[in-house]
Amino acid sequence: MILETIVTTRTEAGADHIAPMGLREQDGFTILSPFRPSATLEHILRERCAIVNLTDDVRVFAGCLTGRYAWPTVPGVHLACRRLASALAHVELALDHVEDDPVRPRLWCRTIERYSHAPFAGFNRAQAAVLEAAILVSRLDMLPAEKVASELAYLAIAVEKTAGPREREAWEWLQAAAAAHRGDRKESAA
Ligand SMILES: Cc1cc2nc3c(=O)[nH]c(=O)nc-3n(C[C@H](O)[C@H](O)[C@H](O)COP(=O)(O)O)c2cc1C
Repeated sequence: MILETIVTTRTEAGADHIAPMGLREQDGFTILSPFRPSATLEHILRERCAIVNLTDDVRVFAGCLTGRYAWPTVPGVHLACRRLASALAHVELALDHVEDDPVRPRLWCRTIERYSHAPFAGFNRAQAAVLEAAILVSRLDMLPAEKVASELAYLAIAVEKTAGPREREAWEWLQAAAAAHRGDRKESAA
């Protein structure tokens, strides 16, 4: 199973770096798999730690993909890197070993400690739709325009029916990114 999370790491200058990232659990380890090139990868290799943030605020996912990185953070407990202030839970990780790969290395991490901050509020279809749309937007250069358009149209149904204000805002950012990309394509084809 893959869980979609927000990974926070520390830049060399000590600033926050925030990126949506999927993770797997295997043999007691948490495995992160960033595609090269990746700032998250560089930071984890240098600092040998990361924080996994479990959040239902889908604006963070949509925001990171659309150039909105200023999400409030607070200090981690054991690590120098910080966690999302809005995390329902966070996990502090230490890098154990690297399974290297020219495309997508696998970072095997040990859990130092896991912290809960707020209860799981329940499933929401608009949140799932925003996550799917975020994945589509992260692949705009790789996917056919018709596929992106038809999948966004389907996902819009769940957003219209079940979104709250956070989900609507996130959805609008992603729609704008997809529209801007369509515009760029038309211009370069003209
Ligand atoms: C839900 C979601 C999951 C993602 N999972 C991954 C992942 O597992 N590996 C990856 O390289 N990028 C993933 N991405 C895309 C990265 O967040 C994005 O490319 C980001 O810029 C990572 O690069 P960075 O480490 O340089 O910040 C995901 C995006 C979304 C929306």
